[in-house]
Amino acid sequence: MSKKNVVVIGTHWGDEGKGKIVDLLTEDVAAVVRFQGGHNAGHTLVVEGKKTVLHLIPSGILHPGVRCLIGNGVVLSIPDLMKEIAELEETGVSVRDRMLLSLDCPLIMPYHVALDRCVELRRGNQKIGTTGRGIGPAYEDKVGRRGLRLRDLLDREQLIYKIEGLLEYHNFMLEQYYEAEPVSLAECLAASLDYVEALKPMMGDVLTTLADYRRSGAAVLFEGAQGALLDIDHGTYPFVTSSNTTAGAISAGCGVGPLYLDYILGITKAYTTRVGEGPFPTELHDETGRHLAEVGHEFGATTGRPRRCGWLDLAALRRVVEMNSLSALCMTKLDVLDGLKEIGLCVDYEMDEQGRPAPVYEFLPGWDEPTAGLQSFDALPLTAQAYLARIESICGVPVDIVSTGPDRAETILRSSLD
Ligand code: IMP
Repeated sequence: MSKKNVVVIGTHWGDEGKGKIVDLLTEDVAAVVRFQGGHNAGHTLVVEGKKTVLHLIPSGILHPGVRCLIGNGVVLSIPDLMKEIAELEETGVSVRDRMLLSLDCPLIMPYHVALDRCVELRRGNQKIGTTGRGIGPAYEDKVGRRGLRLRDLLDREQLIYKIEGLLEYHNFMLEQYYEAEPVSLAECLAASLDYVEALKPMMGDVLTTLADYRRSGAAVLFEGAQGALLDIDHGTYPFVTSSNTTAGAISAGCGVGPLYLDYILGITKAYTTRVGEGPFPTELHDETGRHLAEVGHEFGATTGRPRRCGWLDLAALRRVVEMNSLSALCMTKLDVLDGLKEIGLCVDYEMDEQGRPAPVYEFLPGWDEPTAGLQSFDALPLTAQAYLARIESICGVPVDIVSTGPDRAETILRSSLD
């Protein structure tokens, strides 16, 4: 691909299959960058039949020679990062010499995890269904201007002083408000300071590194986590994650100005899924919903929870195209629709009596022939081609990539993608 600064964004509630596409597009880039979220993400990659699940480390890591950058917009759980590094190293992937962690990454500490769980419990049946990894409380500390950043590890005395202050604050909430166990200083040091020597060689200035890539003409890929409808501002609030997941977050989350982005690819499944609670207008509670979950193996990569399934929601997708200035779409898991008699597309919403959006559907004919593993557009059944064409016409952008299976090779690259 000739484009230099490429962005990959999930268009719904995450789990669109971004990991595979990032991995595929990484062939041509010098670096892959994460700019928001944390280890709440779960990217499953299958290369030559071998499955790897990544939560924090950019999917580019499986390509030797590609650097993996974690921008300041990412909340960092140090023990989880180190665990992921160790797991990759066990399989023979070199990681440390290719990782760059922004000194300004906010840290996820044990009290954030404890708070995440307490907040969810207290919400009862109003719970968000978070991943329980401390993401929301860590971002709260960031915007509250009291959080720790990676650079704080470099001054041991100051770090201990800051943690003591934070423990006073958070343990008050944990013990007095949530009637939970407090978190100890020892736990916090074990989750931060214990790793300082291992982390030092990976810490650095992501902004300057990206500016150097740009000046030298090297290609860089920006890897979104979660999906646009989980965006803290544009998503289905409050059933969202605590960061901006849309393309606008790139500038803030790693220091690349908006004019430097060349191509923004939105990843959508051929149907829609959601983990956790919250509105999902096209959700199917019937046999077709169960069929999609079963054939699509719809279980969360991070929490193992079953995903809710429904028809593709183009009313939402049109807004997502707009808010991200998407250049094109990539459709994943087309093969999961194989064998369905007809396929629903939500093309609009009508408000029901309670003022809730009720989907307006168009039903298109399905296909019997298997699409699994196909690598050329012309080989697709005509009804599958018509399904893609209808999506393009409603969304106003081309479908440049179609994924027909989990492996890198099971992909159709359209000519619109140069
Ligand atoms: P949190 O990000 O752990 O606070 O969770 C908030 C919401 O975002 C929950 O509904 C999670 O299930 C959802 N979520 C967070 N990360 C992902 C992801 O990578 N894929 C899908 N859903 C996610």
